[in-house]
Amino acid sequence: MAKKSFSCSACGASFSKWSGRCEGCGEWNTITEDKGLSTGPASKSLGTRRGSTIPLTDLSTEETPPPRTCCGMGELDRVLGGGLVPASAILVGGDPGIGKSTLLLQAAAKFALAGIKTIYVSGEEASAQVRMRAQRLGLAQAPVKLAAETNLRDILTTLEAEKPQLAIIDSIQTMWADNVDSAPGSVSQVRAAAHELTSFAKRNGVSIVMVGHVTKEGQIAGPRVVEHMVDTVLYFEGERGHQFRILRAVKNRFGAADEIGVFEMTGSGLSEVINPSALFLSERGEPSAGSVVFAGIEGTRPVLVEMQALVAPSPHSQPRRTVVGWDGGRLAMILAVLEARCGIPFAGLDVYLNVAGGMKISEPAADLAVAAALLSAREDVALPADTVIFGEISLSGALRPAPQTENRLKEAQKLGFTTAIAPSGGKSVSVAGLSLRKASDLAGFVGEFFGAG
Ligand code: TYD
Ligand code: MG
Repeated sequence: MAKKSFSCSACGASFSKWSGRCEGCGEWNTITEDKGLSTGPASKSLGTRRGSTIPLTDLSTEETPPPRTCCGMGELDRVLGGGLVPASAILVGGDPGIGKSTLLLQAAAKFALAGIKTIYVSGEEASAQVRMRAQRLGLAQAPVKLAAETNLRDILTTLEAEKPQLAIIDSIQTMWADNVDSAPGSVSQVRAAAHELTSFAKRNGVSIVMVGHVTKEGQIAGPRVVEHMVDTVLYFEGERGHQFRILRAVKNRFGAADEIGVFEMTGSGLSEVINPSALFLSERGEPSAGSVVFAGIEGTRPVLVEMQALVAPSPHSQPRRTVVGWDGGRLAMILAVLEARCGIPFAGLDVYLNVAGGMKISEPAADLAVAAALLSAREDVALPADTVIFGEISLSGALRPAPQTENRLKEAQKLGFTTAIAPSGGKSVSVAGLSLRKASDLAGFVGEFFGAG
């Protein structure tokens, strides 16, 4: 008898036997038997029949770079790695309501106007709704073909007949493949639909953009079900209350991952933010305790952001550690290093850390800026407003130089900063108009800038 396999329709975990509750995600009644999905685990072994030999090539074989088309939205073109590559499969993920449909409708219009034959398929909204939005965004004249459909077979047949160069599928969770008998949005449906669309893209030379809603667990329906299949994974992020939106490449077979594009949600759609540093710093007022400017790098571009810290005596037996836009584990590490290496305790104090403007930072080079913000808040001393800080802190309290120091310094100088504090060591760089103050370890930094240590 063939071995049965089961998987969870909520998180995609697979099991050898059925149970009422998924051990992976804790959901009840989500485990179903896998019934020979084309993309599921192989049910038969290959046996002993021989295949044919495949031709092998050298690593040195000349490869021409893929031709690319830019849509003219510079922020999007850069995140794609320098324009759209033909026959690529792209996933655009993000929270519901963050602006994915708006972004892709605008992109569809731009690509269509740039001469790319484009079809936009909405499985979420009626054609009239999409048309109304297009009119509101002033895109009604763009030669984009529109359909409201969720049946994947019909969509693929239409794409095959129409032969577009770009198809946008909004969203992958609404697609329904009739060979899979589970509800749209379930892991098996999403997996099957993404697989069909990706292989269609490769076979027919169509670039396909799939929209994926991030579920409450922070993953696109069924964890990573789709990410490994596609060439490019972009996330559209931002805080609901802020108008800034960041398009981030987390995987890109045709360009740099970590690249970001910054947009602003306005009454007439998304507009590009050409100078994000100026925007992220625009809300900064007078120099105040706890506020530090971090000179960061996102992908290939320097971005300055304000780190804000608040440190206050805690009324709780377990003091609070709250972080927005940075990693909570990393904050705990910085607090521990400050205590162990510099003798500065945070016990009994609530600590809040916020990256201003709704930005999310993952670079280790933010360590020193965070430490500075924490100390500044704790000691109630404001750092000079014209100073930027960056550098990684190791557990020993030593400071490590950050990559792309020169780019960071140039950006700071361009925005009117006159001083940068950075780890010593690494390549020596200087930028006219900016004085560089170096520190080799955290204790030295604390002694010099906060007169303690
Ligand atoms: P939408 O693109 O529908 O989000 P998603 O596809 O990610 O679910 O965007 C929805 C939000 O964007 C909605 O709350 C209204 C806002 N919005 C604007 O502020 N300005 C605009 O021009 C448009 C079209 C939408
Ligand atoms: Mg949408």
